[in-house]
Amino acid sequence: MPRGGDRPGLIVAGNASIDLLLGPVAPWPAVGTEALVERIAWRLGGALGNTALALHGLGVHAELVWDVGDDEAGQGLAALLRAAFEPPRIQRAPTSVTVALTHPSGERTFVSHLGHLAVSEPDALAAAIEAAAPGDLLLVGGTFLLPRWRLALPELFARARERGVRTALDTGWPTEGWTDAVRAETFATLAHVDLFLPNLDEVRGLLGDEDLAPDAALRALAPRVAGRVVVKLGPDGAGYFDGDRFATAPAPPIEVADTVGAGDTFNAAILAGLRDDLPWDAAVAAAVEVASQAVASSPRRYPEWGSVRRAHSASPTAAGARAG
Ligand SMILES: Nc1ncnc2c1ncn2[C@@H]1O[C@H](COP(=O)(O)OP(=O)(O)OP(=O)(O)O)[C@@H](O)[C@H]1O
Ligand SMILES: [Mg+2]
Repeated sequence: MPRGGDRPGLIVAGNASIDLLLGPVAPWPAVGTEALVERIAWRLGGALGNTALALHGLGVHAELVWDVGDDEAGQGLAALLRAAFEPPRIQRAPTSVTVALTHPSGERTFVSHLGHLAVSEPDALAAAIEAAAPGDLLLVGGTFLLPRWRLALPELFARARERGVRTALDTGWPTEGWTDAVRAETFATLAHVDLFLPNLDEVRGLLGDEDLAPDAALRALAPRVAGRVVVKLGPDGAGYFDGDRFATAPAPPIEVADTVGAGDTFNAAILAGLRDDLPWDAAVAAAVEVASQAVASSPRRYPEWGSVRRAHSASPTAAGARAG
């Protein structure tokens, strides 16, 4: 596996797709009509796609475990990351696409096709786990959009930990909602997860209580997770337990340009922080800083990881984490 010096390796596995953004759409078109819009953009999306773009922007290397379809869209996605990462596996299916239609209010309506994600098997992830070295970090993201990976995850995460690999999970939101089966499946995996990275809505959905405050939510979730939970709180940064004390790393006040992939960008930076042995609170604060800078920029920019790391290792607590 390609490595930077003697540092632990990062392995990022999950879904990549094409995001096509069109809008603003107003008024909402009637069936059978055509609407012209002013804005168009297409980009690499999905949990793995967003995390890979952030790692590339930060200048942090990782091994990617990902697929694309056997069409021109898949070739396009592969070309976007060719300079920085290993190529994807090609599936005999169309590349997954999400069309995001924006409304004048800034709200979005998403229409997605699973495409190649529907046929992706978890065997490449299993092979990456076998090839990993003890101490490496593995992040798996977007798992609810990978139907053939889902039920294999408890076993794969257990195997990774058995091999001394540190495991992180960001499931995203389940397409079928938080049913009892989805909860059971998620808890089965969380029993082998060293670092769970949900947002607050996802924790509330998982626990079946829409009103939980962040500290109560994390307290209720803790017994179900092998390791730690960091809950992403959007403009409020991120929260976690520091021993018995709930702490938050507040986000700086920013003007939001585009929040797409905020959580996946956060994941990229916290992984880099843990790889580089930043103190726990400093790794969370660094991830908040990187994600907030990213969502404030257009076109998107990422700070250079070396300078973020230096700033946060110099002054871990002063850098942003505080008791909540
Ligand atoms: N409005 C905002 N102001 C400042 N920072 C923000 C804002 N929204 C997001 N962020 C930054 O992005 C990080 C992750 O965002 P968020 O909590 O929205 O994750 P998420 O819900 O998992 O995102 P995603 O929808 O990408 O999965 C936050 O911890 C924060 O650093
Ligand atoms: Mg998220």
